[in-house]
Amino acid sequence: MAKRALITGITGQDGSYLAELLLSEGYHVVGMVRRSSTETFERIAHIQDQLTLVSGDLLDEVSLINILQEHRPHEVYNLAAQSFVQTSWAQPVFTGESTAMGVTRMLDAIRTVDSEIRFYQASSSEMFGKVQAVPQDEDTPFYPRSPYGVAKVYGHWITVNYRESYDLHASSGILFNHESPRRGLEFVTRKVTNGVAKIKLGLANELRLGNLDAQRDWGFAADYVRAMYLMLQQDRPDDYVVATGETHPVRELCEVAFAAAGLHWENFVVIDPQFMRPAEVDLLVGDPSKAERVLGWRREVDFPSLVEMMVAADLKALQR
Ligand code: NAP
Ligand code: GDD
Repeated sequence: MAKRALITGITGQDGSYLAELLLSEGYHVVGMVRRSSTETFERIAHIQDQLTLVSGDLLDEVSLINILQEHRPHEVYNLAAQSFVQTSWAQPVFTGESTAMGVTRMLDAIRTVDSEIRFYQASSSEMFGKVQAVPQDEDTPFYPRSPYGVAKVYGHWITVNYRESYDLHASSGILFNHESPRRGLEFVTRKVTNGVAKIKLGLANELRLGNLDAQRDWGFAADYVRAMYLMLQQDRPDDYVVATGETHPVRELCEVAFAAAGLHWENFVVIDPQFMRPAEVDLLVGDPSKAERVLGWRREVDFPSLVEMMVAADLKALQR
């Protein structure tokens, strides 16, 4: 009998890659989508006929209970969230409702319907914020720097708490930034690679950015969803940092992305204060040793290859 998995956030970057992976592993994949006046299925259009899409919302616990009762998944991957850090200052309460309280609603729905369901929570390196150690691992204390980071800390600890209180197989993946050609256009990597493609094709003549000094540990999203899957295949639930172990400033991202199109970044990048944040996370770099040792996880794509892949995909999409 095929295993069944429920993915919340299936229309997002990670949801689309995870759905592909689980289908290739022979799963029956159920994806939760929220009601919208227009469809947001672009990232899963190529596999939509193999998925069961159901309507639900992390803000509505009744919808979660009904989905679990009807589809009886063996595994739940909770990827849905208000995931853009900058928006979390403009919409702090909504961010808390979905990114923090949404986790409790899903955990409680699992406890109500079937406590044997295995659960994955999409935790984040943003929880480390003003970092208390370099590199960051599973023992590094959290110091979030945005309403989003604070909400993710809540989501992380409620996952640990339900695991310890109710013996749920609930794991938390503390994932560092991961990107792809499917990344939302508001995040800096995609904003840069899309900006490069537009400039190269004569559709724009500048790219406006905020803090070029921030450093991130950037990996490839398709590599990272493999770690989520591996966590739920373990006998025991646990928490894992998933990262590359390397960090690069936004300035270097610009350098590599513009060079991939034969351009020099300093001729086009303009600093615009509107993209600066009220509080910044200056440096993230993760130590993935535990995920490598216990899960046997390895990333396959390095930073230059990732950026070049994204520039090539944006050029191709815009040329089309
Ligand atoms: P994303 O592209 O922004 O996707 C977010 C998904 O959540 C979308 O499918 C969105 O649906 C859905 N969603 C938002 N609010 C919802 C609600 N109230 N009810 C149901 N669905 C809702 O994010 P991502 O990059 O794939 O990231 C996946 C998860 O990993 C997120 O929780 C994110 O915070 C976390 N994370 C991401 C990274 C990263 O670098 N990508 C790193 C660490 C952790 P719509 O399509 O309807 O908007
Ligand atoms: N978005 C954006 N736009 N970021 C900019 C810009 C700009 O114009 N200019 C500079 N940056 C800097 C930000 O200030 C930040 O330091 C860095 O680029 C990365 O920003 P984002 O790509 O928006 O990602 P993030 O690190 O804030 O958050 C992402 O990674 C987290 C994991 O660490 C998101 O995917 C979160 O959902 C995820 O949890």
